[in-house]
Amino acid sequence: MLLARSLSFAIFIAACTSSVVKGDGDGECRLWLGPSHLGTDNDPEFGIFAGVDFAPDEIIPDIEVAIPLVDWTEQFNRDTALKNMIVEFVESQVWTGDFAGAKWEGDQNTIVAIPGIGNLANYHSGYHNVDWLQSAALLRKPLDLFESGVAHPARGAITPYHNLTMKATEHIPAGMELFANFGETWDNNQTMEDSFQDKLTRWDYQHADQILDAIIAFMDQYDKDLTPDLQENILDFMLEKILGTAVGKRAKVIRSLIPDNPKKLKAVKEAGGTFLYRNNDLVKSQKWLKKHAMCMDNLKVGPSTIPEAGRGAFTTRKIAKGDVVVPSPMVHIANEELFNMYEIIEKEDAKTGDVTLDIDKSNFLQQQLLINYCFGHRESNILLLPIGSYVSMINHAPAGKANAYITWSRHKHVTNDHGLHDLSIEQLAERNKVGIVMVVQALRDIEVGEEIFIDYGKEWEAAWKEHMAQWNKDYEQDKTWQLTADDMKMQYKEKPFEADLTDGINPYPPSVATTCFLRTEDLPDGRPRRNPDGLEIFLYAEDLSHDEITGADMYVCDVISRTDKLTDGDLYNYTVLAKISDDDIVQVENVPHGSITFVDQPYQGDIHNTGGFRHYISLRDGDFPQAWRNIRE
Ligand SMILES: *[C@@H]1O[C@H](CO)[C@@H](O)[C@H](O)[C@H]1NC(C)=O
Ligand SMILES: *[C@@H]1O[C@H](CO)[C@@H](O)[C@H](O)[C@H]1NC(C)=O
Ligand SMILES: *[C@@H]1O[C@H](CO)[C@@H](O)[C@H](O)[C@H]1NC(C)=O
Repeated sequence: MLLARSLSFAIFIAACTSSVVKGDGDGECRLWLGPSHLGTDNDPEFGIFAGVDFAPDEIIPDIEVAIPLVDWTEQFNRDTALKNMIVEFVESQVWTGDFAGAKWEGDQNTIVAIPGIGNLANYHSGYHNVDWLQSAALLRKPLDLFESGVAHPARGAITPYHNLTMKATEHIPAGMELFANFGETWDNNQTMEDSFQDKLTRWDYQHADQILDAIIAFMDQYDKDLTPDLQENILDFMLEKILGTAVGKRAKVIRSLIPDNPKKLKAVKEAGGTFLYRNNDLVKSQKWLKKHAMCMDNLKVGPSTIPEAGRGAFTTRKIAKGDVVVPSPMVHIANEELFNMYEIIEKEDAKTGDVTLDIDKSNFLQQQLLINYCFGHRESNILLLPIGSYVSMINHAPAGKANAYITWSRHKHVTNDHGLHDLSIEQLAERNKVGIVMVVQALRDIEVGEEIFIDYGKEWEAAWKEHMAQWNKDYEQDKTWQLTADDMKMQYKEKPFEADLTDGINPYPPSVATTCFLRTEDLPDGRPRRNPDGLEIFLYAEDLSHDEITGADMYVCDVISRTDKLTDGDLYNYTVLAKISDDDIVQVENVPHGSITFVDQPYQGDIHNTGGFRHYISLRDGDFPQAWRNIRE
């Protein structure tokens, strides 16, 4: 049986917020890639370090794309131990689709690879200082590369998910490693795994900081009246007697974070709280950064100078011939075949009647888009996904025109594990850590603001030539292109959403659906709580500002009516039916125009177009390890 390829319900996206990004270029390197505090000498990990101070809410200047892997983590891709290992490793390196607004790309589960800060900022169970500004990606402006309804050779070959942005959640001093908020599910998982130990969590530090603040406020208030002895007695009483009752079984742990000498309380606060006081070695000096880390802030994104290419990477600093443009750890994906997409079918077990998902290998769809962002080699099944900042934005130029190339890192601390070159790709698949590190290196002196190009190799070039020939032939026959969610977003930016929709009729192109960002509150007393169809009614919560929306607030929804045009503020208010889960539909009133948007129906977006270009980028033959060549020509 084929799975339904349509959201059983018509679907939405929305507007903009402003944030300041620190100027680039001349200044100090703002982000460094170096050995993380979480690694050890024998078992290094990479992390990102701030090169300058970041204020709370300041944008971290590595704004990335998200590349979806659609319905990829299902059982059918894990049917051997080796494949399972590969999928698990990749899964540990990516985010769930909802951070980017990509959760409806497929029928099952879409995950997204987010290079740069999305991959390299580590998890710390005790602390985080950066988090997604989810609205930036969820409310992103469509790429202006494509003309609405018109074919283009790059349609489906590049990801539509961009503007993935992290911001500082607190003051980050220069030299501090960046730790990202990985979300509650991850936190809970980590806490449960470690619950047998007295391991400190983020909440312990938060609790301790709150208690510290309260004690300092109390002491300050009675400062004149308290002798040092009395202060000590009071602090002792608070920590011994009150803390235990207030924070229960974590008391011992939290107690250990607060100094018992009253004179030291303020020093803890001045250090930035209990976490930074305890972990003062986390802040590195500029000297340490220059020696141990590599600047990952020499590039920025802009419209490519090649018209068909979309985005490109441009230098923010002068780079001398032979110097590193940007370092790039690589996630190894040791089986290219896992990127083949087939029709997904349901399979019933004859004995038990259990239904599982399978793929119909006679029905090949195309390859996952992620392959376009990976490096590979014609004699190998291995793919390497670059996770260096903006490396995936670097375009191709033929040999002779390219101003940079990619090769193994020989940096002393951000180093490639050359031992991995001797492993077979099966052995490499068993490595569940990133150990391969490459660098993009300048072939000549490069000025500020130049676009970086590398040679993607002759296989890629041949594939692109073939794609263009076919594309030109098709274009002569038919220039039109099915309307996408991005087209609809532009059309309905200022124009009211359709409201005359009757049961099951989608007033928009069948390839798109509307979605709403919703957090709700109860109706005021005195109004019926259910509509005539028995669906529960809620009000849109007024305090949901656009900065705060998250992918988890995004629901498939249908507009059923709208108010008259408002005199001020947003365009219109709407009443919508929102699909909270498969069997829970609710009515929400007062939804503003800017909280409604479009998504492509599953398997309907440009990236599912079967004629879309697909090819990996070739590593230079001389660089490619012999042991990894498992396909001999
Ligand atoms: C990216 O997000 C920022 C912050 O929300 C916003 O100001 C900007 O317009 C967005 N850019 C694009 C291209 O969507
Ligand atoms: C935590 O996550 C891992 C990997 O996803 C999983 O194998 C494990 O069972 C989870 N642990 C808990 C306690 O949920
Ligand atoms: C539109 O909705 C907002 C709350 O989201 C509310 O404050 C406002 O009164 C509504 N306007 C109309 C005309 O319904």
